[in-house]
Amino acid sequence: MKRYGEWSSRLAFILAATGSAVGLGNIWKFPYMTGEYGGGAFVIVYLLCVALMGLPVMMAEVMLGKRGRNSPVNSMRILAQEAGYSQLWRILGWSGVIAGFLILSYYSVVAGWALAYIPEVAKGTFTAVNMMPQNEIAGFVGSIFNGLVENPIRLLAWHSAFIVVTMIMVAGGVQGGLERAVRFMMPALFIVLLILLGYAMSTPEFMKGIHFMFDIDFKSFLYPNCTEKSCEWSGDGLLAAMGQAFFSLSLGMGSIMVYGAYLPKHASIAQTTAAVVAADTLVAILAGLIIFPIVFSNGLQPGAGVGLVFKTLPIAFGQMPFGSLFGTLFFVLLALAAWSSAISLIEPAVAWLVETGKFTRFSASVLSGLMVWLVGILSVFSFNLWSDVKPLSMFSTFENKTFFDLIDYLTANIMLPLGGIFMAIFVAWLMKKQIVIDELETTSDNIGYRIWHFLLRYVTPIGVGLVFLNAIGVFS
Ligand code: PFF
Repeated sequence: MKRYGEWSSRLAFILAATGSAVGLGNIWKFPYMTGEYGGGAFVIVYLLCVALMGLPVMMAEVMLGKRGRNSPVNSMRILAQEAGYSQLWRILGWSGVIAGFLILSYYSVVAGWALAYIPEVAKGTFTAVNMMPQNEIAGFVGSIFNGLVENPIRLLAWHSAFIVVTMIMVAGGVQGGLERAVRFMMPALFIVLLILLGYAMSTPEFMKGIHFMFDIDFKSFLYPNCTEKSCEWSGDGLLAAMGQAFFSLSLGMGSIMVYGAYLPKHASIAQTTAAVVAADTLVAILAGLIIFPIVFSNGLQPGAGVGLVFKTLPIAFGQMPFGSLFGTLFFVLLALAAWSSAISLIEPAVAWLVETGKFTRFSASVLSGLMVWLVGILSVFSFNLWSDVKPLSMFSTFENKTFFDLIDYLTANIMLPLGGIFMAIFVAWLMKKQIVIDELETTSDNIGYRIWHFLLRYVTPIGVGLVFLNAIGVFS
């Protein structure tokens, strides 16, 4: 039965999966988290998580989709049945649907910032920095960002615009909506990033940015709160780095699974996955290499938080030749990258709704989009009307967290890694080995297969488990 389309080729899948992986997570989130957690140590832990957990889990997730051929909810049900286990495994699909809704609800608000910056850069707002003394530039650029997020009406309008376009794209279906956009966007984004890297290299503090990103200081990573008398151990950085690896690679919630379901029957999974992981990692590192030199050259703080990218890159666009042009192009591409991720966040829900037989693709897209839009209002208000509302501040972990922060924390740091553990366990412990080997089109003595199986069986579950225990303070 062929309920959905199929990718026209393996390349089409690579493009779509890369489209899902590369997004705000790489360009907005990775740099500000790296800044918040002090640089090099965060980066190295992130890279280790990508290699030792992300890559194997992605292969597993693609394989689950390719075998299940349905939405994550039904794929998990079918595969659990096939392996002789409880159909409750479909809960994994459900938690993915919920995680996707929650992530998209705030993702869309941030994507709205990128949309808002398109006209801002295009009309040359930031060229004003050329007439300013050096020490006023950062303040001016920061005030533009603050002016945006403090205005609930503007944020709501951009959030709505982003969701509406997402709904239209999702309603268009697998080949119509998803494939076309990514094909041109990814190479273009890459080229603009290289141009920006050129600008970053010309700034006075380029080397300081490099050192910040690659000098590894585990002491301040693990003991961020040191006073003269004592140091306090914290597992937050490890958890954040691991969560970011899952988030950036779109893992643990069924996005990649549902894309795997649209793979042609004989497509090789291992190489395809490796290509996606490599592209995603490259873009994140590039973004960091661009942003930190600008941070240090303008006296900004790396730990400036969620606005970091929006407070740094416009400085470059204000100063470099053809800056308004490249800047406009950059924010257009960033918005497109966000859309290609947004589509994948909502696809598990839409695919499932269509499978129930009660919805067309169109009505399923509209319904899901509306729900996400509503939840997103919590995040819109987190930056203005409700910026003082900290719903769970009675728990020390959630102190000072707005709705926006909480939804981000719950999804990236908890739901995605947990989803990843269960996928790893399902594939490496419960599925029939022969089925796995067939789907991967390999043999049981293939060395790559054996390493993968080992990582999935032991390293991923134990690794995620240890990071969780550490974060709740078991080892401190
Ligand atoms: N990977 C996307 C990004 O880095 O922007 C975000 C994302 C998409 C997360 C899909 C999770 C997901 F399932």
